[in-house]
Amino acid sequence: MDSAKSYATDPAIERVLFTEEQIAARVKELGEQISRDYAGKPLAVIGVLRGGAVFCVDLIRQISVPLELSFIEASSYQNGTTPQTEVKISISRGFTAKGLNILIAEDIIDTGHTLKAVRERLLAEGALSVKTCCILNKPARRQTEIDVDYIGFDIPDEFVVGYGLDYANKYRNLPYIGILSRSVYEK
Ligand code: IMP
Ligand code: MG
Repeated sequence: MDSAKSYATDPAIERVLFTEEQIAARVKELGEQISRDYAGKPLAVIGVLRGGAVFCVDLIRQISVPLELSFIEASSYQNGTTPQTEVKISISRGFTAKGLNILIAEDIIDTGHTLKAVRERLLAEGALSVKTCCILNKPARRQTEIDVDYIGFDIPDEFVVGYGLDYANKYRNLPYIGILSRSVYEK
């Protein structure tokens, strides 16, 4: 049973961009590539809460080298679809980035402010290296200089939900990634 099909009838979703199966295949490829790149090198994967959580836990299970897992929280969007350039970051107590080879797992890079702020914070905390991995990339809206090391899919300039991505904290549990109908937020 294709779960994406039953959800696609949800009027809030204008169009499905990537099905559960397409996402799983791409995450597997990313995991394989990361496993090759980190062979023989200790790896610490850091998921970015909340949007990156779903991707992160899928990704680590496709990585075959030993790793440790942590999460940090970053928020740049409040309850809307317009980005804010100020990024709030909170790191759980007891976590230290010092000396780690870190791979950040995030849902999407849009303007780039969030990923840049998280990366710089981890480097400032003494990380040995910080690479970045996003399941989605919205290149049309970039406002900062930042290279993403691993990208799942490039997407057009549309507001998307599902697979961890939300609108007003909803739709994170959709197994696929879809474009949110404008009627949901343009009232
Ligand atoms: P940036 O700082 O503009 O790159 O934004 C990154 C953050 O904004 C991501 O971590 C997401 O939480 C959120 N975001 C950006 N675009 C979308 C979208 O299309 N749907 C849902 N969340 C988004
Ligand atoms: Mg996010």
